Amino acid sequence: MKQTKPLLQVNNLSIGFSQYVKGIQQRIIRPIADMHVDINEGEIVAVVGASGSGKSLLAHAVLGILPSNAICSGSIVYQGEELTTKRKELLRGREISFIPQSVNYLDPLMRVDRQVQIGLDKKTARRQQENLFAQYDLKKSDGRLFPYELSGGMLRRVLFATSVREGVKLVIADEPTPGIHPQALAEILKQLKQFAQEGAGVMLITHDMMSALQIADRVAVIKDGATLEISEATAFEGNGERLTNDYTKRLWRALPQNDFDMEYKEEETVTHVPDWREPEPLLSSK
Ligand SMILES: Nc1ncnc2c1ncn2[C@@H]1O[C@H](COP(=O)(O)OP(=O)(O)OP(=O)(O)O)[C@@H](O)[C@H]1O
Ligand SMILES: [Mg+2]
Repeated sequence: MKQTKPLLQVNNLSIGFSQYVKGIQQRIIRPIADMHVDINEGEIVAVVGASGSGKSLLAHAVLGILPSNAICSGSIVYQGEELTTKRKELLRGREISFIPQSVNYLDPLMRVDRQVQIGLDKKTARRQQENLFAQYDLKKSDGRLFPYELSGGMLRRVLFATSVREGVKLVIADEPTPGIHPQALAEILKQLKQFAQEGAGVMLITHDMMSALQIADRVAVIKDGATLEISEATAFEGNGERLTNDYTKRLWRALPQNDFDMEYKEEETVTHVPDWREPEPLLSSK
């Protein structure tokens, strides 16, 4: 039976950035306002939404890796306690595992086998890394290469391998599957499912809704920096009658597997521009 113990609760999250205009005037832009999402132990929550809607910023806020000019408010509670900057630092890369959207997070000057060994028990690190390489269809000799010597799909698999650690309780995967061949995709979905089966919570940020629905328990739909709806994954079926929000319904119907509804395509994908809200007076950093 599914566990329902809350693991992560993000409420009223707002993220702004202070920027200089014409060199001297400072203003705040606010790409995230009123975002919320919650994940229970053993649960996979997919986070979907158009490009620029704020999915990566949500992940970075939970991990504590927003840029220094970010102004963040709202509450992020992990295992019943506020996730302070200090706790984020302590848990990141240990209990809280992150698969970033960009392969640039890999160290360009370190061979990839060493990068996968970081954080593993020293005595067994090499063996564990070699097992992970085999699992993700990477050759032993690939380990001696530097990131620039690997293809995009190989780098994604290396990046994913860095997240597989014992004792992980929350996994944040930001677009872990683009450019990956079907077999590796299946392996990554299987691993995410396994994290959840072992009791971890998983936030799966993705544009690949059909893959996400294979493993997700719930789906959070994000638009323009706010959460529109969090639905059971099973509600994404048929014409989306069980979905409550119109945007979510259109998002669902726009998939090639469904009607490929162009109403959604034109309005949300083709003409989407990032939400640059009206400049606000400078707020003090919290
Ligand atoms: N450092 C920053 N300074 C100013 N604005 C930013 C910064 N980082 C992100 N943004 C803006 O915040 C918005 C959300 O960005 P984010 O990267 O979270 O989108 P996303 O949903 O992850 O998009 P994608 O699906 O393309 O990865 C965008 O409009 C982006 O331009
Ligand atoms: Mg992103």
